Amino acid sequence: MASGPGRPLKGWIHPGEEPAGFARLDAEAFPAFEPGTVWLVGAGPGAPGLLSLLAYHAMQQADVVIYDALVNADILRWVRPGAELEYAGKRGGKPSPDQRDISVRLIELARSDRRVLRLKGGDPFMFGRGGEECQALARAGVAFRIVPGITAGIGGLAYAGIPATHRDSNHSVVFLTGHDASGRMPANVDWQALATASPVIVMYMAVKSAPEIARALIAGGRDPAEPLTFISNATLPSQSVAVTTLGQVGDFLASTPPPTPAIVVVGHVVAWRDILDWYKGSMRENPVG
Ligand SMILES: C[S@@+](CC[C@H](N)C(=O)[O-])C[C@H]1O[C@@H](n2cnc3c(N)ncnc32)[C@H](O)[C@@H]1O
Repeated sequence: MASGPGRPLKGWIHPGEEPAGFARLDAEAFPAFEPGTVWLVGAGPGAPGLLSLLAYHAMQQADVVIYDALVNADILRWVRPGAELEYAGKRGGKPSPDQRDISVRLIELARSDRRVLRLKGGDPFMFGRGGEECQALARAGVAFRIVPGITAGIGGLAYAGIPATHRDSNHSVVFLTGHDASGRMPANVDWQALATASPVIVMYMAVKSAPEIARALIAGGRDPAEPLTFISNATLPSQSVAVTTLGQVGDFLASTPPPTPAIVVVGHVVAWRDILDWYKGSMRENPVG
């Protein structure tokens, strides 16, 4: 029986008798990845070391892995040899495959009795269309499991030395997408309310629309001098962080466009970075994390 809350811990008290290191996990009763099912797994923001144990387990069991553009190639190297890899992202400037096509493919593969791993960047349910894919699976009667991942808007901030919340600066945080299904700044957001809702706003897919969003936030009462931070390629050795202000973001983007993908953070919380910026020097040399 696996150990867990309320159960006695396994007593590995005789050195040499039990496996060491990661091999100890082989004795654990991970959930079976049944043929004919789909696991939607969050791959985290980039660094392979940020995968969950369940995500790694799924990568050892899967027959086929359908992965997105933002899944780091170093993570795919950890997929079981022999598993098929299928790309479901944007390629060579061509439009992304239709969301419906991806869902149809997942259903088709599950119905051919494979263990289907849908590997998505960050967390599958955080601006990742995981909900839509699960709806399609549910409608088709295909059993699925969701393995959460570390979302870029949390992991990326941590690697930039910016706490998403801090008792001395903010008691709330808002997550926002910079564009809706039409590709434009979301129209159904109450910008006036949002401007006053939270001291920290973390935005995904928002580099292009940052000036428009900044104008809406300033019109809603936000101080134009408030910091706006871009965290690019978060958690990877190529990570970079750039700080401007709500009032100056348009000029900033025109002169110094940040690399993408990037998370955009609005708020004074970036000031903690002066003390908490830890991902530098030799810390950045290891591509695992
Ligand atoms: C389609 S959304 C997917 C978000 C993902 N499901 C998550 O939970 O992180 C893609 C956006 O996530 C953000 N993103 C993902 N990975 C990132 C990274 N390594 N560094 C910075 N931003 C990232 C960017 O804003 C990018 O445009």
